[in-house]
Amino acid sequence: MLEKGTQEKLKIGVLVSGGGTNLQAILDATRNGSLPGEIVFVGSDNPDAYGLTRATKYGIPTFNVDYDSLLKNFDKRLDARMIPPDWNREDVLKKQSLFSPETPREKVDAFFKSRAVAEAVLLDQMAPYPFEVLVLAGFMRILSPYFIDRINTDPEKPRIMNIHPSLLPAFPGTDGYGDTFRYGCKVAGCTVHFVDYGEDSGPIIAQRAFPIEETDTEADVRKKGLAVEWALYPYCITLFAQNRLRVVRKKHTRSDGKKMEKAVVQVLPSRK
Ligand code: GAR
Repeated sequence: MLEKGTQEKLKIGVLVSGGGTNLQAILDATRNGSLPGEIVFVGSDNPDAYGLTRATKYGIPTFNVDYDSLLKNFDKRLDARMIPPDWNREDVLKKQSLFSPETPREKVDAFFKSRAVAEAVLLDQMAPYPFEVLVLAGFMRILSPYFIDRINTDPEKPRIMNIHPSLLPAFPGTDGYGDTFRYGCKVAGCTVHFVDYGEDSGPIIAQRAFPIEETDTEADVRKKGLAVEWALYPYCITLFAQNRLRVVRKKHTRSDGKKMEKAVVQVLPSRK
């Protein structure tokens, strides 16, 4: 990460699944100098992702990991040799928070084994391109503890960021703007957060809200939201580049008496 006065640029890895307009916004910010970083690779789980084309236009290395066929092949063959040798079932099952304790263990086990098969390929593809922060820009795959722990080698310093199209913790999942609109919310927004073991549950870095007008359609909300995202994501990555993000554990007692502990992000003031 960059200390004041350092010229070195933050090395950013990006994963996309689709059109990559957030990728474009990050690219533009690195090129106009507002974000002191450079994108060192763009990876995808979808060979047709337009985000890959955007990256290629700028000479950025790209790769694709064929999640669909890796997951399908594994489910069909259940070949234990496909599971990475450093995958640890007990560790992953202990850490995961996607499935409730009632979910049959075999189902949870099969899910995380198949993810690890695809994630091992993803890690291999990323290996030639050292990076400091991994930015999920519309990457629509769950990342399991197996993958996350191989990126977050220092538990105090998470380094996978995601942008989500809702004001978390409301409306996690795959259609944040749609869910917000259909619920009848009068305000929508987006959230940038560090990735943890849950779905869209990691420590929040920043959020931006905007009103939903009576005449707005779902498409309007999506369009307005994306424009907000294009400013928010480069801003958050810049905070990371400036070493201004700290994750601290905060304890509190809920009104029902339950003791809680939550990792939250503190944004340090600019040193300028
Ligand atoms: C963005 O709206 C982003 O917030 C969302 O996908 C879209 C990607 O657009 N991400 C998620 O829903 C992640 N759960 P883009 O490909 O044009 O950047």
